[in-house]
Amino acid sequence: MSGRISKEFIDELLVRVDIVDLIDSHVPLKKTGANYVARCPFHVEKSPSFSVNRNKQFFHCFGCGASGNAISFLMDFNHLDFVEAVEDLAAFAGLSVRREQATSLVDTSKKEDLSSLYQVLEQVAAFYVEQLRVTPKAIQYLKSRQVKGAIARDFLLGYAPDKWSVLSERFSQKLLIEAGLLVVKEDGQAYDRFRSRIIFPIRDKRSHIVGFGGRVLDDSLPKYLNSPETPVFHKGKEVYGLYELLAKNSKPQRIVIVEGYMDVIALAQYGIYYAVAALGTATSQAHIDLLFRFSSELVFCFDGDRAGREAAWRVMESAFSSLKEGRSCRIMILPTQHDPDSLVREEGVEGFVQRMQSAQALSEYFFDYVTNGLNLSEVEGRSQLISKARPYLERLPEGTFREMMFSRLQDLSGMASLSGADNKFIAQQVSLNKSHQQAFNRLSSVRVAIALLLQHPALAEVVEQKDIDWTGLEFRGIELFKSILGIILDKKSVNTAVLIEHYRDTPEEKIVTSLALLDVYMDEDKIETVFSDALDSLLKQARDASITRLEAKARSHGLDAQEQTALVNMLTMK
Ligand code: UTP
Ligand code: MN
Repeated sequence: MSGRISKEFIDELLVRVDIVDLIDSHVPLKKTGANYVARCPFHVEKSPSFSVNRNKQFFHCFGCGASGNAISFLMDFNHLDFVEAVEDLAAFAGLSVRREQATSLVDTSKKEDLSSLYQVLEQVAAFYVEQLRVTPKAIQYLKSRQVKGAIARDFLLGYAPDKWSVLSERFSQKLLIEAGLLVVKEDGQAYDRFRSRIIFPIRDKRSHIVGFGGRVLDDSLPKYLNSPETPVFHKGKEVYGLYELLAKNSKPQRIVIVEGYMDVIALAQYGIYYAVAALGTATSQAHIDLLFRFSSELVFCFDGDRAGREAAWRVMESAFSSLKEGRSCRIMILPTQHDPDSLVREEGVEGFVQRMQSAQALSEYFFDYVTNGLNLSEVEGRSQLISKARPYLERLPEGTFREMMFSRLQDLSGMASLSGADNKFIAQQVSLNKSHQQAFNRLSSVRVAIALLLQHPALAEVVEQKDIDWTGLEFRGIELFKSILGIILDKKSVNTAVLIEHYRDTPEEKIVTSLALLDVYMDEDKIETVFSDALDSLLKQARDASITRLEAKARSHGLDAQEQTALVNMLTMK
């Protein structure tokens, strides 16, 4: 859609905003000593363990371990993705997002277009709402479907009149076309896409109207029309009802995924406000990932017919790559002749909730499906099972859930050590990480040096004064130290938040975050000395290790010229 946000802009943003102000505007903070505290917004607690540090521009909860900078806060608190969080943070700081050079010109104009697109969509929605108010037959239709006024208001239901050009008489034709509200014929003539239909505005989670669905009042066809893909509307990414759901509860215990607009509305009217619908497309992995950001339990509703069963299998395929421990998907097959709308009316909330709770877990559904029709008492059946199931299980992210699914397959197929290779690999990874971690914990001077550098980037000056020769120094932690130092020296101004940001989604993210949080108790005026000592000791350990390594190599393979110089240098420095 638009160029990447420039890295420099993100750094600048993190220096410009004050995380205390930002968080205070979402969660009122109280000052205690150097920190600001509140009850943690990310878990339920009685006494405050959520603390925000102005110097580090960082928050941390001692209770649940949540931590991060201003961007992370917005991502977690408002369920935004990275780009959205940066955009909102920029808006908070009164800056406009800067994107990467090459495309920046195009982007600014695009950016403007988007806001005028949002604006016209908003105005058209309001127009349709007004039209509903003055069209008795449309109101009558909603009444006949037992839709109450309050729900119609919550969902901004409207009516598109039975005319060909009501919109172009009122709004810019260019914008209407871009917003997908006009259909342009081959001869260039344009007419309103939605006519004589009940209108369901589709909002993204930030409350922008991005498109519409429209239903006829009678039996004519097509029954539903949807907005086409536009610069702001991507069916594979949006779900109907998400905004309305989050307005009620930003952390619902479960989300139920249904097929139609009217299903979402009927369920909401019965108090099951946590339903959403994919927009006339199959539920995609992007949909599933989106929904898992808000709830750890997803229940998918399907018709009991053949098409419904096929759709269930397709959803399962999309869900597989997103499944891990702590998340659950259920498959709820509806009785024939029912959709959620009719079912909740017939069985009431309790009946519907009961059905959701007893719906089959995806893991069970999966094994039922893959074993269906196979005779597992025969070798043939069992080997077919393995070849059917295995490709799916291999797509599961590593972790307990994956292992349990594999062991279930082992049980069913009677084949020992099915994922033997994977398991060994995982075990190896875990123990590698562990020993790496332990080694790191022991190297206290490395930890202290890195932690202090992260927490007080101005210490880079102390490093500069030492005029260190880094060549040949290979030592655990040195690389990370150098990389942090590099970032600091590269910038005009940095703080802890900026440094952390550089490691987002990298293998070092965890260790950097934990070192940024590490409490190194000491007086302000001792920091420089402690850091300098830690660094000296780190360098000494690194030199010793490198000398040992180079001397060993000299004996076994011999050294090249560069290595020889490095060794001589290090020996003379000792
Ligand atoms: P259904 O045909 O199951 O309709 O379509 P429904 O939701 O039960 O509608 P009512 O109760 O008759 O009003 C389910 C969904 O499939 C999409 C729509 O998103 C609809 O909500 N659909 C259906 C279309 O996009 N176009 C169509 O012509 C029909
Ligand atoms: Mn229906």
